[in-house]
Amino acid sequence: MAGESRKLSTSLSNMSWAKWADAVEIEPSIYASDFSRLGEQLDALRAAGAKVFHFDVGDGHFIPEITIGPVVATSISPLVRGWGARLDCHLMVREPEKHFEAIAKAGGDSVTFHVEVCDEPARAVAHARSLGLGVGLAFNPDTPVEDAAAAAEGVDLVLCMSIHPGYSGQAFMPEALERIARLRALLPDEVLVQVDGGINQETALAARAAGADLLVAGSAIFWNDDPATAYRELVGLVAESARA
Ligand code: DX5
Ligand code: ZN
Repeated sequence: MAGESRKLSTSLSNMSWAKWADAVEIEPSIYASDFSRLGEQLDALRAAGAKVFHFDVGDGHFIPEITIGPVVATSISPLVRGWGARLDCHLMVREPEKHFEAIAKAGGDSVTFHVEVCDEPARAVAHARSLGLGVGLAFNPDTPVEDAAAAAEGVDLVLCMSIHPGYSGQAFMPEALERIARLRALLPDEVLVQVDGGINQETALAARAAGADLLVAGSAIFWNDDPATAYRELVGLVAESARA
């Protein structure tokens, strides 16, 4: 059994991050978890099928909040890697490149940095790749979609924020739907569209219909007595709509 799971995690880790993420629709956002029970909650989600965990790093500058960082990633990445799952790191920080190496060393699998704080996205992409990280480019609700799409050369995904970044539990901004659709139309097919903020049973299908490939969900999963069941229900809802 242990041998089998080791084989599985090896074959998954050989797969490119973009291909791996392709098979995943819902990413639980760890920021919304109960940190006193983090390992247990992640394990329950893994058992429910979660394969990519969203990890929000906030520096108190780009966003007012200080969130979690490499120290926490170092604790959980051996678990996540052992399951053959991934840690997808959303850097809500100024000067994101300064943190790439620490994220890689801590066992993060990808870095998504914000276009608003990156003067040379191409250099940042090359830097992340040199560390073996997957790469995403994020943009805020006030940033033109065209600016993000134009800067997205060479990334695996573009993250369209559907809230002002900062904290979990905010309402989905309805105007994000039109932005998701415009983004999808501007990007090459192989670049995934990720959406983060206010995704729940009411908003997930609309975001998918607008063109989102990957949905991040924090409070809709963790702010429940049973996060694994909430995750399963959200995955089931999206899968059902894809079949319909
Ligand atoms: C907040 C973070 C999000 C957050 C999402 O700025 O980037 O990932 O955890 O939480 P919900 O799904 O509750 O909006
Ligand atoms: Zn996030």
